[in-house]
Amino acid sequence: MNYRHHFHAGNFADLVKHATLLALLDDMKRGGRKITLLDTHAGPGIYDLSGAQAVRSGEAAAGIGRLLEGPVDAALGPLVEAVMQVNRGAVTHYPGSPLLAAARLGRGDQLIACELHPEEAQGLTAALTRAAGRDGPRLDIRAADGFDAALQLPNAPDRATVVLIDPPYESGDDHDRVVATCADLMRRRPAPSVIIWAPIKDLETLDHMLRGLETAPGLRGTAIQTRLRPPLNPMKMNGCAIILLHVSLAVREAAIAAAEAVARQCGDANASVVVTKLGEEG
Ligand SMILES: C[S@@+](CC[C@H](N)C(=O)[O-])C[C@H]1O[C@@H](n2cnc3c(N)ncnc32)[C@H](O)[C@@H]1O
Repeated sequence: MNYRHHFHAGNFADLVKHATLLALLDDMKRGGRKITLLDTHAGPGIYDLSGAQAVRSGEAAAGIGRLLEGPVDAALGPLVEAVMQVNRGAVTHYPGSPLLAAARLGRGDQLIACELHPEEAQGLTAALTRAAGRDGPRLDIRAADGFDAALQLPNAPDRATVVLIDPPYESGDDHDRVVATCADLMRRRPAPSVIIWAPIKDLETLDHMLRGLETAPGLRGTAIQTRLRPPLNPMKMNGCAIILLHVSLAVREAAIAAAEAVARQCGDANASVVVTKLGEEG
């Protein structure tokens, strides 16, 4: 467990992932049902952009930093607003997925956040408890394996269920565990909405995972690749993919628009967005 998201918080990949998460939660709230969100790999919740790790990597400066130079694309407006809300004045901190979700969810909603690293889990508990307040969602913060939590997630037909799967892909089996977890989730009725994040280094690793996901019966999904540059050097992070399962057309369109805006603002002259359908329908 060497991975620390502090190096990467607020980078181009977080922007696409978090803009998509907010679009999905806003869409679900319009549906009127109470929401249960499982964040399988939650991280510590809040990141100091002036900290040594963020400064050393320079990733936030090339991500959220670049967006804040403006003008902000409409597809990224809600995310930029949410980032401003955790800062007073100058943007010194970037909120992670559980904090962004907690601010969107309210009474009667539930946020289950798993973080396996003990130190990060401690930070997460403090940050999330502070952020959720009295009117926020019911919190269930676990220093536990997020894939296991997804497999144990009870069926709740009366609620809208969302699962965010955002592993570090540092251990060899993360890709396979994503596929196995989604196969299980897609057997549920109703099937939850799922957002999966994955890096793009070489294309075969991603394609292998997409082929695995497609074997789940009844799967209906979309893979949206944000390529900062053509993926020719597998030693580099060339982009990221957001894979959406069982989301509305509106959420899919919002995620594509966010990916296009990030490719334009953070990518090089050959940046592109590639959208593919998975399973029965897009
Ligand atoms: C990419 S970061 C999460 C970022 C967060 N989702 C966000 O968007 O702000 C991945 C996190 O997963 C944690 N982690 C690694 N393996 C895990 C596992 N099996 N279950 C839960 N957390 C895990 C790491 O410690 C790390 O903090």
